Amino acid sequence: GSAQAKLPAPEGKIVNVAHRGASGHAPEHTIASYELGIAMKADYIEIDLQMTKDDVLVAMHDQAVNRTTNGSGYVRDYMLEELKKLDAGSWFNASFPEKAKPEYAGLQVPTLEEIFQRFGRSTNYYIETKSPAAYPGMEEKLLELMEKYHLTGENGRSGKVIIQSFHPESLLKIHELQPDIPLVQLISRPELGKKANEQLEQIKQYAIGVGPNFSNINKEYVQTVRGHGLLIHPYTVNTEEAMKTALSWGVTGLFTDYPDVFHKVMKKH
Ligand code: G3P
Ligand code: CA
Repeated sequence: GSAQAKLPAPEGKIVNVAHRGASGHAPEHTIASYELGIAMKADYIEIDLQMTKDDVLVAMHDQAVNRTTNGSGYVRDYMLEELKKLDAGSWFNASFPEKAKPEYAGLQVPTLEEIFQRFGRSTNYYIETKSPAAYPGMEEKLLELMEKYHLTGENGRSGKVIIQSFHPESLLKIHELQPDIPLVQLISRPELGKKANEQLEQIKQYAIGVGPNFSNINKEYVQTVRGHGLLIHPYTVNTEEAMKTALSWGVTGLFTDYPDVFHKVMKKH
């Protein structure tokens, strides 16, 4: 083995985050996909947020419904009642016939509240504020719902919910409103080498970790992040080989469409 000591993850165990649920197996951001993620032993279910015309937070990656439903247009232009009529599962059956299941047809776009109602405190949530500039009030709505489902306070501090965003202003707003909620700064292209330090110093002011694109980082970067005492959860790591590489670099967790594969890799780690 290597002479280098393995750094312990500051928060303990290395986390397996089911990206959009177990989205390699089931239609992303559906209750079925989250249930499968949990069944596959994910520690967190990952949820991207968009907001309807009547200001309801819903789970969807894109701003438009076109890719993942049978509808078209922006979530922002849909009343929840209309959005609920869309089929969020049949596209998956059509795109991935080898993974298709009849029960995926007709699945609905879940609201964040429905997700909290379904899973309560039985799982952990890794929630992303998407396009916050397009959705004024999104952060307040999110915190309100977290309060309602008892996911703040002690549960907040313990990492029951991690809030992530590519947008620092969204995280800073949350940090101001509820400073004890753990935040992760997503970064598509992090500064590498010596320049990383300055960027990480900034992020440390409000976040407990970073979520970089796995394609744009290296071992040195992971070690630098760990040296700052920050968590590092790269996205989206889908092959066994890439997972092993990520672990060998010292990541403290990762986002994957295949939580079953990562669970297996971790057992041998
Ligand atoms: O949230 C981590 C990762 O999901 C960021 O990329 O585009 O899949 O939301 P995206
Ligand atoms: Ca995401």
